[in-house]
Amino acid sequence: MEFIKVTEQKEPQVALIELNRPKELNALNRQLMEEMRDALQQLDKNDDVRVIIITGNEQAFAAGADIKQMADKTAIEMLMIDQISTWDQIRRTKKPIIAAVSGFALGGGCEFVMTCDMVIASETAKFGQPEIKLGTIPGAGGTQRLTKAIGKAKAMELVLTGRFLSAEEAHFYGLVNKVVPKEMYLYEAIQLAKEIAHLSPVAVQLAKESINRSFETHLDEGLTLERKNFYLTFSSEDQKEGMKAFIEKRIPEFKGK
Ligand code: HXC
Repeated sequence: MEFIKVTEQKEPQVALIELNRPKELNALNRQLMEEMRDALQQLDKNDDVRVIIITGNEQAFAAGADIKQMADKTAIEMLMIDQISTWDQIRRTKKPIIAAVSGFALGGGCEFVMTCDMVIASETAKFGQPEIKLGTIPGAGGTQRLTKAIGKAKAMELVLTGRFLSAEEAHFYGLVNKVVPKEMYLYEAIQLAKEIAHLSPVAVQLAKESINRSFETHLDEGLTLERKNFYLTFSSEDQKEGMKAFIEKRIPEFKGK
């Protein structure tokens, strides 16, 4: 892996993926996203990992897709390369993904963050979809996810002007879970990951799938999936252990079975 760094922690079972192209503000070139896809696929299959954190560095989560790599491409070349297809792995990952964001999260960087499940931001974070200033538009879900996250009027403003949102504004509009001082964002993401990592991975996976379905379906279908997933947890040992522990007034021990 050249452009990302993966570290696994045993207790709690949390994996950290760091984007590692600091000189280019972590611009997301094709190789970086291929490495990301492969890492996510492996971590999703790895029983020793329950939650994944993705982060950049203090200056940037990512300043977008790599402009230099795509500047000269024709539409047909873009279509045939279809680099955004590698991005699909982010939303296909079954384990929860927390984005820990400091500095710039722009263009594809902002779209990447919005594809994750939760976002912890440093007070220095800046979010935006500045593609319009390059004569193009968001291509990895920005027009869809930003609109659902912050509402039509604000999404229009950001996408049509390329303005940035500060961390505080992003929090106000519901784009991020929490804003913390810049030295705390990774720590805070790890705290959140730990809390989830101690819970039943079966229930966590089904809950994540059910919430995500709310973006993709009509209410009726989403409710049906949620209900089935709820019933399905009753076939797990974790559900039995969780409810039994509650009644016996002790901390449950979840095994992912
Ligand atoms: C390639 C990039 C880059 C990018 C920064 N760099 N962003 N290279 N692609 N997206 C490079 C710069 O060229 C420069 O390298 C180095 O990183 C530092 O950047 P500076 O511009 O010198 O830093 P600064 O003045 O601090 O400005 C920071 C910035 C600015 C405001 C974030 O870099 C910027 O506007 N970047 C582009 C943001 C953007 O438009 N993103 C959307 C991309 S399109 P050199 O070697 O030149 O000094 C997109 C479409 C997604 O994301 C579609 C789905 C795939």
